[in-house]
Amino acid sequence: MSEIIRISEEELDRQRAWSDAFAALPHRPETYYIVTYGCQMNAHDSEKIAGILESMGMRPASERTQADFVLHNTCCIRDNAERKALGNVTWLKEVRRDRPGMLIGVCGCMVQQPGMAAKLLRQYPFIDLAFGTGNLYRLPELLFRAAESGKRVIDIPAEESTLAESLPIRRSSPFQAYVTIMYGCNNYCSYCIVPYVRGRERSRRSNDILREIEELQRGGVREIMLLGQNVNSYGSGSEEDISFASLLRMIGRTGIERIRFMTSHPKDLSDELIDEMAHNPHILRHFHLPVQSGSNRVLQAMNRRYTREKYLERLSALRAAMPDIGVTTDLIVAFPGETEAEFEDTLSLTEEAQFDSAFTFIYSPRAGTKAAQLPGAIMPEVATERIERLIALQEGITDRILAEQTGKRVNVLVTGHARREDDLLTGKCERNISVNFPGPDECIGSIVPVEITSAKKTTLRGKIIKEQTA
Ligand code: SAH
Ligand code: SF4
Ligand code: F3S
Repeated sequence: MSEIIRISEEELDRQRAWSDAFAALPHRPETYYIVTYGCQMNAHDSEKIAGILESMGMRPASERTQADFVLHNTCCIRDNAERKALGNVTWLKEVRRDRPGMLIGVCGCMVQQPGMAAKLLRQYPFIDLAFGTGNLYRLPELLFRAAESGKRVIDIPAEESTLAESLPIRRSSPFQAYVTIMYGCNNYCSYCIVPYVRGRERSRRSNDILREIEELQRGGVREIMLLGQNVNSYGSGSEEDISFASLLRMIGRTGIERIRFMTSHPKDLSDELIDEMAHNPHILRHFHLPVQSGSNRVLQAMNRRYTREKYLERLSALRAAMPDIGVTTDLIVAFPGETEAEFEDTLSLTEEAQFDSAFTFIYSPRAGTKAAQLPGAIMPEVATERIERLIALQEGITDRILAEQTGKRVNVLVTGHARREDDLLTGKCERNISVNFPGPDECIGSIVPVEITSAKKTTLRGKIIKEQTA
């Protein structure tokens, strides 16, 4: 097991010197474009990468075909994520025929898979720059070397569980912000590649987290999303004696208006956390609690370390403390050896749990994981049939829950205009459901009270509640 490496101030200073050296290079790349795949972790890493690139004097290009440096921040959670990234990288090779000098880069989880560095070297000779998830902070040095030498730079350390503070961040929203509280994962769910590509679980110091949040708040941020693969185990194994619930209590005291977090692992969902949520007015009423399967045999084979009964008990505890909480989940169908009866256990759990919504996935074998060795692969047509039945069931539940919101009063952080209905404003309510409603543009960036008037598929409709003035 690799140890956790805190990146020193001296190393970050060294990288700042590389940034300056890059900025002074004649004929250096001037513009960048980042293509991001995968989860919020990657989205936030891309914000850090953009921050670093801008500290090196680069500016964003409006389209990837126009950029001097195109970086793909990849995901490998399922086979299709990986194929999409590699397909787009290869497509760019063609674009470069008209734009010689364009630098093509890849980074992120896919790159960090065992054996991938060798594969990139052999099969993708047109990639100029590749780095892993643990050495992102070294981008100034790596990009300098690639730009100056014109040679490819592939720097993918086997497994690095690093923790770097104070990297520059170019945030994509002025009023919502991601804040990582922990990196990596130690859970080794048998199907999952994340522990192999993101390294050991490591928590940031609470002081560093609080300082970042206070700064965001001073800058006008209204809502933060705390990030980690398993936020419920925040603090375990760190030098501080601290739990996720106590971190939330401290964050609540900063006065930041709205707090969200993801993802939580059911095995670590404590009564202390439920109690903190119920009493902390800043924490919003949404809980993403991936269950994966409703069958105890499958849950055990997945190494999830809870049973269906335990999961449902935790769900009841959450709802007993917060009757208005919205719960969402992740579900996997067609895990190796999953029988029809075991799949039906997932259906019955979905029915019983009444999730606001669910992300549903067909199991995808990942090389190097335990489950990839298991016999009993499910035929693709059976897998498709199962996921369709599961989606149909969940859609009915989502429809009913959304219809029930009619007449309720919610608070929406207005983030912009609705994608399909440009004349309406949009934002998320406490339960993390999108709400569209008419209103003036001045509302963008503020939290407004809205009454729900109807539901449409996955979105709610509403109208702004005008406060009575005496
Ligand atoms: N850390 C989070 C989830 C990270 S991955 C957690 O533990 O819940 C997001 C989701 O992708 C998982 O919840 C799971 O449902 C799905 N997933 C992960 N590996 C997968 C695989 N090999 N095949 C299909 N789905 C997978
Ligand atoms: Fe993957 Fe499990 Fe870790 Fe989530 S908790 S990232 S599913 S190993
Ligand atoms: Fe996220 Fe994909 Fe990596 S889901 S942690 S970007 S493998």
